Amino acid sequence: SQVDWEIDAAEKGGYEHFMFKEIMEQPEALRRCIFPRIKDNQVYFEDFGLSEDYIRSISKIYIVACGSSYHVGMVGKYNIERLTRKPVEVALASEFRYMSPIVDENTLVVAISQSGETLDTMAALREAKRLGAKVLSIVNVVGSSIARESDEVLYTWAGPEIAVATTKAYSTQMAVIDLLALYFARILGTVEQTEYETVLQEMLLLPGKMETILSHTDTVQYLASQYFNHDSVFFIGRNVDYALGLEGSLKLKEISYIHSEAYASGELKHGTISLIENGTLVVALGTYSKLFDKAMSNVVEVKARGADVLALTTQSHRDEMAQTANAVMTIPDTHDLLLPSLGVVPLQLFAYYVALMRGCDIDKPRNLAKSVTVE
Ligand code: G6P
Repeated sequence: SQVDWEIDAAEKGGYEHFMFKEIMEQPEALRRCIFPRIKDNQVYFEDFGLSEDYIRSISKIYIVACGSSYHVGMVGKYNIERLTRKPVEVALASEFRYMSPIVDENTLVVAISQSGETLDTMAALREAKRLGAKVLSIVNVVGSSIARESDEVLYTWAGPEIAVATTKAYSTQMAVIDLLALYFARILGTVEQTEYETVLQEMLLLPGKMETILSHTDTVQYLASQYFNHDSVFFIGRNVDYALGLEGSLKLKEISYIHSEAYASGELKHGTISLIENGTLVVALGTYSKLFDKAMSNVVEVKARGADVLALTTQSHRDEMAQTANAVMTIPDTHDLLLPSLGVVPLQLFAYYVALMRGCDIDKPRNLAKSVTVE
């Protein structure tokens, strides 16, 4: 009825889908998550229970999570290791349980979960505690099971997320991981004060930069209209761009049902390149400026085999990328460590518009659940 329709539309903030609403809410979610945690140029966690002595005693950090939360962990590994020089392992929670993980009282286990109810992640958390580790969780749903069973919780404060495909929870999880890395690095003395402050200043600019990306959704919509008919897609990238590719690929396959794979660019020659033929869509991620030249050479490599290349890069590399790729999506420049926070947004939009054009059930894709409480 008209009334049901109006209630439905109001819940979605006037948008057609929760996923789009939640994509658009990301700048606000990031403000809620980041701003109260930066005070006087320092990371500030209210009532944080991990002491400086404990943080210094950590010998290893083990991140456990599933799905998109696991992809945040992949970026987290790069960023935490770079800033703190502590070794970080990332495991799928469902694997962690059965692999006799090397974990003891000096291991900090970080469990990442939007819902705080994912059974595999919960089981990994319990196993970690049994082995004597402390567990810090990064959770969106306040008071959820994982939050309650952890020694320490950092909430993402993204607000309720309804669409099965996560968007604003992913970006706020990423922000919390970055804040945590900076917090640890300062205590450990492993980051230069100027870099520490620059990253924090850049974090404060993230919501505004995200708004810039979100004011150009028509560009991504146009690109989606060019590519939505492909039935196989490869996402390629190196380092954080590889981790970002995993998330971009998952988003696309989850909601559009297009077969999609993410590959570390350097591995192409060991396998996937045999699948590239005329008209294969390759989404080439080249946001990380230190490795931009490598990203370019991979674009050349796949183009030579006939691929259509849709690239993602930063404003300052746009022109160079546009000389080779068929099309380019651009994000504003930011500190290296924060690139995935911006880079994910065009990939979310791309998945959304492709799924829309294919007539898919965007908010409730077949066979998937928002929160998986079975093994
Ligand atoms: C489900 C959802 C994914 C999510 C994963 C982990 O599979 O469909 O979007 O990334 O669970 O969920 P969590 O709540 O633990 O982050």
